[in-house]
Amino acid sequence: MTHIRRIGVLTSGGDAPGLNAVIRAVVKTAIGQYGWKVIGIEDGFEGLILPDKARPLDFASVRGILPQGGTILGTTNRANPFDYPVTGAAGQTVRQDVSATILNRIGDLKLDAVVVIGGDGSLHIAQRFLEMGASLVAVPKTIDNDVNGTDLTFGFDTALDIATQAIDRLHTTAESHHRVMLVEVMGRNTGWLALESGLAGGADVILLPEIPFDANRIDAKIEARDRAGSRFSIVVVAEGAKPKEGEQVFRVESSSPLAQRLGGVSFVVADQLAALCDHEIRVTVLGHIQRGGSPTPFDRILGTRFGTAAVDLVARGGLGRMVALRGESIVDIPIADAITELKTVPLDSDWIRTARSMGVSLGD
Ligand code: F6P
Repeated sequence: MTHIRRIGVLTSGGDAPGLNAVIRAVVKTAIGQYGWKVIGIEDGFEGLILPDKARPLDFASVRGILPQGGTILGTTNRANPFDYPVTGAAGQTVRQDVSATILNRIGDLKLDAVVVIGGDGSLHIAQRFLEMGASLVAVPKTIDNDVNGTDLTFGFDTALDIATQAIDRLHTTAESHHRVMLVEVMGRNTGWLALESGLAGGADVILLPEIPFDANRIDAKIEARDRAGSRFSIVVVAEGAKPKEGEQVFRVESSSPLAQRLGGVSFVVADQLAALCDHEIRVTVLGHIQRGGSPTPFDRILGTRFGTAAVDLVARGGLGRMVALRGESIVDIPIADAITELKTVPLDSDWIRTARSMGVSLGD
């Protein structure tokens, strides 16, 4: 087993509340428990491509950051070193594989291991580096909660809290105008955020990527509520939801999954409903509000546990593995297992049964 002296830490992909909790825990555990040095790498994997993006982190660097959103490590960008834009000879942008630069840089910085804090896209990148011989461990981060092998990713609880508060607020204004309120939440190709915020907020309809919807079924639910005396409805729409006869709606389409951006399906639902019912309909797209601000206590604690466990994993020689939450415990699994498939909402689960038992229409 390599004798560990110095580790790096980087935050990659979209930000998620709790990143700073993980960084703080990595620094405090690595220095306080093992006497290692910690190098913070700014701007995700890009910080290992461009110069001057690495700096030592100590206790003072992480003081006071636990409740802060965002990351103290520059930006969490989505740069993909295997498909990285560089300026060609004629000034044009060409895409190149710059992974060798990263491996060299890890060597130059004398890092015995790097803690990669990232979601699905970053974990795929991490796995490719592992196969090239890099020494990495991973911490699962994303508000989408779509990483396989862990009950939860950090960041999800905060986004859930924000989305639930928004639904609570929409309830009162929806009722005051007898309107149908659509609220579009993030989550990419999985419906965890929509389902759980919808359940927590008492939504009437929840549309998930896992269950293609039919506007007639949504309308039937709205009409049934009308007949029962509730002349307003709350419809939570996952950004990745799609009509039975149709496709997902993108703001930015791309052949690269990392560059694709979903968004706008709630306007499609609104148009379809407008043709079917007399209610006034309004759309709220929560967007990046769901990722901003201070993490909930749960995410601060989960991030702290993950950060500590990631350093312990390095110390045990568990390179190539990702920390994960299973029940009450923090365990670790191969990064390769975390990226075999997305963790979608299982259709035969108690989640779906509970939603239906609460009278929620899933649009099918
Ligand atoms: O993966 C996290 C996430 O917030 C998704 O829910 C959303 O689809 C996407 O990132 C938005 O990406 P960006 O921050 O690049 O707009």
